[in-house]
Amino acid sequence: MPNSIKDTIKLADGNQMPMEGFGTYKLTDQDTMDAAIKTAFESGYRLFDTAQFYNNEELLGNSIKKLKINRKEIFLTTKIPEPKQGYQSTLDAIDESLEKLQTDYIDLLLVHWPIHSQFFDTWRAFEKAKAEGKVKSIGVSNYHQTHLDLLSTTADEMPVVNQIEDHPYLTQEPMIEANKQRNILTQAWSPMGRGATLNDATIKDIAENHGKSTAQIILRWHLQRGIAIIPKSSNPERIKQNADIYDFNLSDEEMKQISALDKQQRTGDDPEIVYEIEHQYPTH
Ligand SMILES: NC(=O)c1ccc[n+]([C@@H]2O[C@H](COP(=O)([O-])OP(=O)(O)OC[C@H]3O[C@@H](n4cnc5c(N)ncnc54)[C@H](OP(=O)(O)O)[C@@H]3O)[C@@H](O)[C@H]2O)c1
Repeated sequence: MPNSIKDTIKLADGNQMPMEGFGTYKLTDQDTMDAAIKTAFESGYRLFDTAQFYNNEELLGNSIKKLKINRKEIFLTTKIPEPKQGYQSTLDAIDESLEKLQTDYIDLLLVHWPIHSQFFDTWRAFEKAKAEGKVKSIGVSNYHQTHLDLLSTTADEMPVVNQIEDHPYLTQEPMIEANKQRNILTQAWSPMGRGATLNDATIKDIAENHGKSTAQIILRWHLQRGIAIIPKSSNPERIKQNADIYDFNLSDEEMKQISALDKQQRTGDDPEIVYEIEHQYPTH
């Protein structure tokens, strides 16, 4: 259990990763990004999560440069989107990310969503980029157990992280256990259900008992389950608040009450559908 936001955990490949990081989805203008990254860095966040799909890698790279942050002090995650998957196109996409982020390595590269046609070739490119040192750790996002099993039939190295949607309304116990069995750390995206879980009556009661916000209770619940988190906010007070979760403990009973709120409610697509149709948001 981390004692501070700067604490790291050892991944299966031996690299260290902070358990809490900062999500950047929907931060799409430079001023907002600059302000958010400055507050986040000052509040102790050291992991920054972006993706080619968010269209903001360059903005994040610019913010880091402006703040004169030492590259070794931070951990950068980015993701390869569905249209860029495949062997050569993934290798080319990695070079694009390096250029936009203005760095010579990515700490953690994730396959954003599994897709059936490029499934094995994309992973071969990930293994090559890691061997070349362009990427320190390789992982996946939105992989079900069947996708991990399929990958294991040809992979030389298995992913060390699986970033999945996870929050009190989608608690993901079987998937978390499946990751654990394979030495894969679960990292929660939309850890607060993109806001959907913040007004829950049970969580509000627990928050009042601790003198904390519902967001802080939810983020603490993730950490006490051993799940890494990447909350996003563009609001300075909320960015600080989400980092201030290391001075209290939820009881076993409170942990159980929150886990019992599961209702299989997704904010994003079901990975199985994306795997079949090969892109996100089929209904949009
Ligand atoms: N791998 C994937 O497929 C995938 C998919 C989605 C997201 N992600 C990653 O996960 C990160 C987090 O997920 P997310 O942005 O979807 O959802 P989230 O972090 O669960 O929730 C963000 C929302 O909650 C609000 N919020 C944040 N802190 C709050 C607080 N303390 N009190 C009240 N409201 C608060 C934010 O609004 P304000 O900004 O106004 O504070 C925003 O609307 C993303 O930024 C992205 O990096 C990955």
